[in-house]
Amino acid sequence: MPLHWAALWLVHATAAPLVTLIVSRHGIRTPYPPGGEGNLTKESMAKYTPQSFPPCWPPGPGTSEVWGTSITAGLTPHGGRQIRNMGAWMGSRNFSTVKCEEVAVYADTNSARDNETATNWTLGAFPSCSSLHQEENIIGDPKYLLFNDGSNQELCGFPWRHEVIKSFLGSGKGHFEALLKAWQAQIEKVDSVVHCCPDAGLCGGQLPCNLSALPIKYTGKFWAATEGAFDIAVFWAEFFLLEYLNGNPSYAAGQLSQADLVDLYRMVVANMEFLDNVFSSKRLESTLAAHILGTLLQAEQQQQIPGVQHSKDAKVVYMAGHDTNLLLLRSLLGLRWQSDGWAENAVAPGGMLIVELDWDVEDSSRGPVVSMYFQVAQPQQLREGVIFGEQQPSRVQVAITDCREDPFACPLDTFQKIVVSKIRPECIGIPGLSSVVDNSTASATWPARYWWTFLLTGADEIDEIDGNGGFL
Ligand SMILES: *[C@@H]1O[C@H](CO)[C@@H](O)[C@H](O)[C@H]1NC(C)=O
Ligand SMILES: *[C@@H]1O[C@H](CO)[C@@H](O)[C@H](O)[C@H]1NC(C)=O
Ligand SMILES: *[C@@H]1O[C@H](CO)[C@@H](O)[C@H](O)[C@H]1NC(C)=O
Ligand SMILES: *[C@@H]1O[C@H](CO)[C@@H](O)[C@H](O)[C@H]1NC(C)=O
Ligand SMILES: *[C@@H]1O[C@H](CO)[C@@H](O)[C@H](O)[C@H]1NC(C)=O
Ligand SMILES: *[C@@H]1O[C@H](CO)[C@@H](O)[C@H](O)[C@H]1NC(C)=O
Repeated sequence: MPLHWAALWLVHATAAPLVTLIVSRHGIRTPYPPGGEGNLTKESMAKYTPQSFPPCWPPGPGTSEVWGTSITAGLTPHGGRQIRNMGAWMGSRNFSTVKCEEVAVYADTNSARDNETATNWTLGAFPSCSSLHQEENIIGDPKYLLFNDGSNQELCGFPWRHEVIKSFLGSGKGHFEALLKAWQAQIEKVDSVVHCCPDAGLCGGQLPCNLSALPIKYTGKFWAATEGAFDIAVFWAEFFLLEYLNGNPSYAAGQLSQADLVDLYRMVVANMEFLDNVFSSKRLESTLAAHILGTLLQAEQQQQIPGVQHSKDAKVVYMAGHDTNLLLLRSLLGLRWQSDGWAENAVAPGGMLIVELDWDVEDSSRGPVVSMYFQVAQPQQLREGVIFGEQQPSRVQVAITDCREDPFACPLDTFQKIVVSKIRPECIGIPGLSSVVDNSTASATWPARYWWTFLLTGADEIDEIDGNGGFL
């Protein structure tokens, strides 16, 4: 056994990762309507603006022809092509030796845009693997267990209200005055384009009835903490950005720059993070985090882990989900990223968190190590639909901040302890997957499992191995 592992290490030390796991947001989509429910029509926007902005429904000139589709919140053709471009770049740079049967694809199959994102990505990354381009071969998530953003609160739900209001909205005093003031400049910037609000009844008697005057109330919906000024400003901020990214001839009525859009998008991320926070991430994202850990352990141990739905031979695991899933993982694991062209922690369309398990070339005694990256196309690249080659998307390494040995190449055993310390076992929705927690607390296999590596590297590192991986 040890010799077998030693041989494997020698073979793999400079080769491809044991496994690469990608959690991606879907590509560019059409906007939701203001308030989030129904279709994006002219009427749904008319209460908030006398200006004319392209809806996507009903189909026809000035609507679906602008966006490329009449489906509300649907992946656009431009968005699909951009995902394919990203896939093609990764396929040629990273996965040229990966075989079709070594790829597993997951998606939030409740969402057509996630299905289409997954198949567009595999079309780019693995053009000759036709079975990977079929929706039927996606590993689905009908009950929102892996891609849970609050849609499934059966195991672990919320009282959210107090947590959100006290911890993130600066109290509800004076109709959420703190929230309004914190984003006043951005809200007014949006209003300088939309000239809210033709329906003066929306402001509850306050005149003039402008965007800032829309009363803010707590709604408790898992996709929007509040309604009113901030929420509607968020709607427009995202609307303008999507117009820009989709390559629409006109965006933000020609009145904002790309830099403005990137800045306003901070409001969209903040809005999601009111709900996708340190409280909710443990409750909603423990299943996904356990599944990520299970994927890595399975690749390392080369034996099937209960609850992990793909084969132990998978070298690439692609998961198409949502911005909310990325933000919840960010919150759960204490991550942060700064991509080129975007504001801090932006989760733009097609943005992805990449988790790699590699053999450690420098210090084999640590066993395989985990590294994370955030990769996303820059705003202009998305707008232009750039085919990557000379131009590359932004790719930054993401620190695993709790890994004291090495936040950029964290020993898998330590990574397991970190993840297990953060998740809530009772919130893991896939039967069997809890064994990543149970075995971790029960076993003391580490560092014994890697004793053989001292034969290769000498014994001088023994001092550094303190049995708790430096984690405590
Ligand atoms: C939205 O549009 C679709 C067609 O794309 C239509 O089938 C559906 O009924 C519409 N829904 C609403 C709420 O208007
Ligand atoms: C790619 O995305 C487009 C736009 O949503 C979609 O129409 C198309 O079916 C997708 N292609 C594949 C192979 O999934
Ligand atoms: C994947 O490709 C990127 C871009 O070329 C490169 O920086 C990175 O090192 C590659 N990773 C692996 C594991 O091949
Ligand atoms: C996504 O694809 C799966 C097949 O894997 C299918 O069952 C599901 O209905 C699709 N979702 C949508 C919204 O079309
Ligand atoms: C918006 O309306 C409120 C009253 O409803 C007013 O106090 C404020 O000055 C207006 N803001 C702008 C930028 O006009
Ligand atoms: C936990 O241990 C059980 C029993 O030995 C094994 O079947 C399972 O695969 C292990 N799970 C993990 C995540 O190591």
